[in-house]
Amino acid sequence: MNKTSAPGFFITTLGCQMNEHDSEKIAGLLEAAGYVEVSEMAGAKFILFNTCCVRENPENKLYGRLGEVKRLKEADPGIIVAVCGCMVQQSVERDKLEQAYPYVDLIFGTHNLHRLPELLLKVEAGERVIEVWDEAREEAEGVPTKRADNLKAWVNITYGCDNFCSYCIVPYVRGRCRSRQLDQVLTEINDLVNQGFREVTLLGQNVNAFGKDLTPPVDFADLLAEVNKIPDLWRIRFTTSHPRDVNDKMIASLAELDKVCEHLHLPLQSGSTEILRRMNRGYSSDDYLRLVEKIKTAVPDISLTTDIIVGFPGETDEDFAETMRVVNEVKYDSAFTFVYSPRVGTPAAKMQNQVSEEVKKERIMHLVEVQKEISTKANQDYLGRIVEVLVEGPSKTDSKVLASRTRTNKLVHFPGSADLIGKLVEVKIIEATPWTLHGEVLTR
Ligand code: SAH
Ligand code: SF4
Ligand code: F3S
Repeated sequence: MNKTSAPGFFITTLGCQMNEHDSEKIAGLLEAAGYVEVSEMAGAKFILFNTCCVRENPENKLYGRLGEVKRLKEADPGIIVAVCGCMVQQSVERDKLEQAYPYVDLIFGTHNLHRLPELLLKVEAGERVIEVWDEAREEAEGVPTKRADNLKAWVNITYGCDNFCSYCIVPYVRGRCRSRQLDQVLTEINDLVNQGFREVTLLGQNVNAFGKDLTPPVDFADLLAEVNKIPDLWRIRFTTSHPRDVNDKMIASLAELDKVCEHLHLPLQSGSTEILRRMNRGYSSDDYLRLVEKIKTAVPDISLTTDIIVGFPGETDEDFAETMRVVNEVKYDSAFTFVYSPRVGTPAAKMQNQVSEEVKKERIMHLVEVQKEISTKANQDYLGRIVEVLVEGPSKTDSKVLASRTRTNKLVHFPGSADLIGKLVEVKIIEATPWTLHGEVLTR
């Protein structure tokens, strides 16, 4: 039990930054409803899973965790068990939870999370509540948010996605692409800065689509220019950019706006033009390489990261070799690599020539190994350099070591005292591993 005797809540978040940020909103709503966040699932009165269905793996994780919860619930029937997020937007999964998991008391979706306070009252009164909207009816503004950090904040700029990449479930579970009003985004960031936040990450499945649906239309680069004007904001990040929609204006923003950090997450998915066509990505391998060239010319110290899928249906050894060619040519700072996972309801799941698990495994192992070497070299390039870092807090493993980030989003550990937390400092890099840099602070 916690000291205040207020009921505790515990949220497990699976999936992407979108879900991380949704969980911050859910936490804010639960606090407003009189709950307090606790650090362990055992002992919590409200246990929630914010789910992801982008691949089979996060789905399996949910079912694994629900097993643990069953035991807790048997010991204390007063516990409320809730499931929300992308998975329950699929009727198959929702029905399965409803029928085979009777101890789940509350199910709500991605489009109605702002209704949690009302749903919670019903559940507290003993009702089982399942409310999922198939599409967004209203965009909730001003939801109380309990942010995980006090320096860096997520800010939604678009919801949903219109791209329908043939492998991807996101457009079906998050709905069509909707932009937030420009002034609402700016007001939120101004408020954040007044509360002491210094860095924002603008969130969207495809940030480059921002504003196309607004009247009058706004360009993503115009948004960046407005955010860049906010006093006392130090750093602007954004994710994700679709290669097809990156325009010259956005590249110019990366190059010219002082607060926009030199990091671009630019998902490749595949280096084979034929696979890209069947993925419905809207660019060829050469288009992608030309774009990278342009970006590197405009912003020479840019850090590039990516997402890659191996084993898409029909991917041949030659297709995979094309992916490796692009990986070796671009030299990403880091890459998120995935084995293709068929998602029911997407066109790719019905395609012939699904690649065997064995081949997928071989390919991903090779890719991971090559990328690790590339990442190591990219980090070694920092040796001896003096970089500006924003100090985020003590490192996870050693309280005398601080964790910080470069503008290029590299994690830098260095020994230092707690009074540096929340500050920009200059650090000299003295050691590099594939994942982290180590440095020493320069005396000012
Ligand atoms: N909107 C973002 C992120 C989408 S999900 C974007 O377009 O980049 C994050 C990543 O998961 C994708 O970039 C893709 O690489 C991967 N992914 C999506 N669906 C997948 C599937 N069915 N199997 C394997 N990986 C998948
Ligand atoms: Fe999925 Fe493609 Fe949309 Fe990204 S851009 S969320 S991969 S459909
Ligand atoms: Fe994100 Fe997973 Fe949903 S990647 S948008 S939480 S399906």
